[in-house]
Parts: sequence; C-alpha cells; structure tokens
Amino acid sequence: MRKIITGVVAAAVVVVGAAWAFASVSPTVSIDPAVASRAGDAVHGAYLAKVGDCVACHTAKGGAPFAGGVPFNTPVGTVYSTNITSDREHGIGGYTFEEFVLTMREGVAKGGKRLYPAMPFTSYAKVSDADLRDLYAYFTTQVPASDQPEHASGIVWPLSIRWPLAYWSRAFHDDTRFVNDPSKSVEWNRGAYLVQGLAHCGTCHTARGVGMEEVDLSGKTDKYLSGSSLDRTAPIDLRSAAGAGLVNWSHDDIVATLKTGRNPHSAVSGPMGEVVENSTQYMSDADLASIAVYLKSLGAPAGTPFHADASTVSSILAGTATGRGASVYLDSCSACHRVNGQGAARVFPSLVDNPVVTQDNPDSLVAVILNGARLPSTESTPSRLAMPGFAWRYSDDDVAQLATFVRSSWGNHGVAVTADQVAKVRARLAQQ
Ligand code: HEC
Ligand code: HEC
Ligand code: HEC
Repeated sequence: MRKIITGVVAAAVVVVGAAWAFASVSPTVSIDPAVASRAGDAVHGAYLAKVGDCVACHTAKGGAPFAGGVPFNTPVGTVYSTNITSDREHGIGGYTFEEFVLTMREGVAKGGKRLYPAMPFTSYAKVSDADLRDLYAYFTTQVPASDQPEHASGIVWPLSIRWPLAYWSRAFHDDTRFVNDPSKSVEWNRGAYLVQGLAHCGTCHTARGVGMEEVDLSGKTDKYLSGSSLDRTAPIDLRSAAGAGLVNWSHDDIVATLKTGRNPHSAVSGPMGEVVENSTQYMSDADLASIAVYLKSLGAPAGTPFHADASTVSSILAGTATGRGASVYLDSCSACHRVNGQGAARVFPSLVDNPVVTQDNPDSLVAVILNGARLPSTESTPSRLAMPGFAWRYSDDDVAQLATFVRSSWGNHGVAVTADQVAKVRARLAQQ
C-alpha cells in the first residue's frame, strides 16, 4: 500500500513538477520560544514515534532500527527512506531542532533537500511544537546511532531532480497546525489531533486528487477518510455513512481493532495489520478511546445518494442535448469516456458518481480538462494511458460549460462551474 502510494505520488510529482517554471522560496518555521528552549521528554518522544509509525518506513527488513534503506518502488525508479538514528553523520544526530521541525512540517531536510511526500509531512505538519520537541529528543538522544549511509536513489537524472517538489508543496501542502474545535469535547479534539496528525490515517484512507495529494487532510469534508481508490482490494471508508464504513461498529469495536487487530465482527488484513503491529497496538487506552470518539463522529455524506439518470444518454442519442457543454462533450470527450460517461473499465475512468468530477471544489476536474492527465504505469497495468489537454482548444467559458455539463449529467449532482473559476486554474497552471 505504502509502496503503491509512493510510486504514484513520485510519478505525479515528476509529471506535475517538471511542467512548472522555476521560482523557489524556501519555507521557514515559527516555533514557540518557550518550547524551543526547554529539553524534550524523550520517553514521551518514544511513545510519539510509535503513534507516528516512523519504524514502518524507516527500518529495513533485518536492518538496524530507524537506519532507513526501505525501498519504495516507483515507476521512475526506487526511492529509499533515510537514516533517522542519532548518528551525526548519517542520521539526524546533527540536526538542530529547527531543522527537524522544517523536515517534519515542510518536507525540507537539512541542507534544503526536498523530500518526496512519501514522507507524510502533509500530516505531520499538524503536530504541535511540544510533541515535535519530544520526538526530537528521542531520535537525537535515545535511538542508537547507526552509520548506515544513505542508499543511493535509483531514480535517474533528470527525474531525480528534487526542486520541482517545491511546486507540489506550494500547490497542495497546508503547513498549518491542528486547531482545537472548542465546540467539541476534549476527547474528540485529542482523537482528531492524532488521526489527522502523527497517526496519518488519511495517507491510506483518504482519496487522492490529480496531483496525488490527499483531497482532504483536515476533516473539512465528507471525503476525509472516506476510502482510497488506490487500494483496489478493499473499500476502506472509516466514516459512518448509511450502510457503509464503520456505521455498524461500536466505540469498543474500533478500540479493539486498533489494539488487537480484531473485534467480534472483523479482522484487519494486509497493510492495516502492519499499522496495528507497529503503531496502534502501543497507543494508550485513552488515546485509542479518543480516536474512536473522533471516528464515530464522522458522519454520513451530506449530499443526496447517487441515482443514475438515463435521460442524459437518451437526449444525446436523440440529438436533443443542447447547449455548449453537451456539444463540447460530444466533440472532445465522448470518444473515450463514452456517451454514457462510464468510459471503459481500467482504461478510461468513469465520470459518473466520481468524486473528482462532482466534489464541491472543481479545481481538479478543471485542471484535468485543461492539462490532461496520465496514468502511471505499474506492473499490473503497465500501460501509459494518457488523456490530452484541451487548454489550447477551449475558452474559459467553454470549459466552464463543459465542466458544468459533466457535473450535472448521468445523475451527477455537482454545482455549476463559472468561467472565473476556470480562469483561475488556467492562470495557476500557466505560471507554475
Ligand atoms: C509512510 C512512510 C514514512 C513514515 C511513516 C515516516 N517517514 Fe520519514 N521519510 C520517509 C521517506 C521515504 C523519506 C525519504 C524521502 C526522500 O528521500 O525524498 C523520509 C525522510 C525523513 C527524514 C529526512 C532525513 C534526511 O536527513 O534526509 C526525517 C528526519 C524523517 N523522515 C523523520 C521521520 C519521523 C520522525 C517519522 C515518524 C514520526 C517518519 N519520518 C515517518 C518515509 C516515511
Ligand atoms: C499503510 C496504510 C494504512 C494506514 C496508515 C492506516 N490504515 Fe487502516 N486500513 C488500511 C487498509 C488497506 C485497510 C483494509 C484492510 C482491512 O480491513 O484490514 C484498513 C482498514 C482499517 C479498519 C477496518 C479494519 C477491519 O477489521 O476491517 C480500521 C478501523 C482502520 N483501518 C483504521 C485506521 C486508523 C484509525 C488509522 C490511523 C491510526 C489507519 N487505519 C491507518 C490501511 C491503512
Ligand atoms: C483520448 C482519450 C480521452 C479523451 C478524448 C478524454 N479523456 Fe478524460 N481521461 C482519459 C484517460 C486515459 C484518463 C485517465 C488518466 C488519469 O487519470 O491520469 C482520463 C481522465 C479523466 C478524468 C479524471 C478522472 C479521475 O477519476 O481522476 C476526467 C475528469 C476526465 N478524464 C474528463 C474528460 C473530459 C471532460 C474530456 C473532454 C474534454 C476528456 N476527459 C477527454 C482519456 C480521455
């Protein structure tokens, strides 16, 4: 799972990043001086390292703990996780606290090296100064030094150039801290803080957008933790939608599963087994209870349930579908995505009841229409399917009408898109 995600992320980063122009500004961090000046609590830091599951990605099979070298296979080559032991030369023993915070929050390692978002800094950015201080104390003083050198990246030049990652961050990374919701209980806030932050549950449980960014990292929408399409083996919706997700799980079922990997109705498998093994089983009962409170609060989607609507297809076939949106669709999209919008399995994605198409924020849909898209090639699907971009061919108004048509046909219920919204996406894509 991690490897699939990393691969896809790396491929997307290379495609998106390489297309953008150079104009980099290094991020900075602001840290509460009271926290920065005190010694961290390494014992609490060790606990936090379990919650953050650092070991899963930073310890190779049979290797020294946290010495890195775990391979992440990507279509462009192999990325290796790095040595994060207290070794001053090969690990992070020589990091200042500021450098550590910059790595965890911005994905910028010592010396300015941009990290692939395989390192989940998009979630770790939520972690408080105090917790980062304790993690820092643990890694730099308690984790035995290993002199294992960094494994040379298997990605060849020019794909190995890292600066385009700055653009990925600029487009998709929100580096703000978790903010307590005063209308919610202390337990709820603690659960939200852990799930969204260190425990990075969304890495696997939240769907990804066109840049392979998690579509929601803060639980603002129903997309958050509503299941990821990257995992083709299981629908892993952690919300409680009608008839789906964890709706039939009790608070205790969730705690039991995270603690032991099973509950009376269900047992974890595959990647979730490793999460339980390396991470959640070590969490305190209070933290697990908080996570359960938070997950149980994630309710059913507010939108109307999907009902297919055959009238779009019949009006297209009868020649009565009028309007610019419908005619652009017939001209430029239907050859691949078909008149019924359903495309062809594993070749052309369906546009019907597809969150990329219907989600409130239309930017991803507009960006795909303007720039096209390319599916990464993997072992199971080695093809390099691509969709051409249409920016050169259609005006902002054309694209808005097309997007509106696609979002409101076949039973889709997305709100209309305006030419202004298209212009903004077009401008962003052009300058980046
Ligand atoms: C999902 C996998 C994953 C998890 C979980 C993870 N990391 Fe990483 N981390 C990586 C990868 C991969 C890299 C190297 C990325 C690259 O080279 O672009 C990395 C790089 C780093 C670096 C940069 C080191 C350097 O000098 O290059 C630090 C520091 C780090 N991780 C700390 C942590 C800590 C602390 C945790 C736990 C709180 C953690 N990581 C959890 C995958 C992960
Ligand atoms: C490395 C990817 C990954 C991460 C990180 C992850 N999960 Fe999962 N999770 C999965 C997969 C895959 C499944 C589906 C397989 C299964 O049901 O066991 C799953 C299933 C589950 C289930 C249902 C288990 C069952 O018995 O069916 C729960 C509950 C869950 N995850 C909660 C969490 C929570 C809470 C977090 C954060 C602490 C988390 N997951 C982090 C991959 C992940
Ligand atoms: C030559 C065939 C082809 C044409 C023509 C085409 N597409 Fe695509 N489209 C694809 C392929 C292949 C993908 C998958 C690529 C990817 O997601 O990286 C795709 C992906 C998409 C996606 C993203 C779906 C998702 O789940 O991420 C949307 C939205 C989309 N197309 C809409 C359109 C619209 C609207 C038009 C008309 C302007 C159009 N396409 C024309 C082949 C085509």
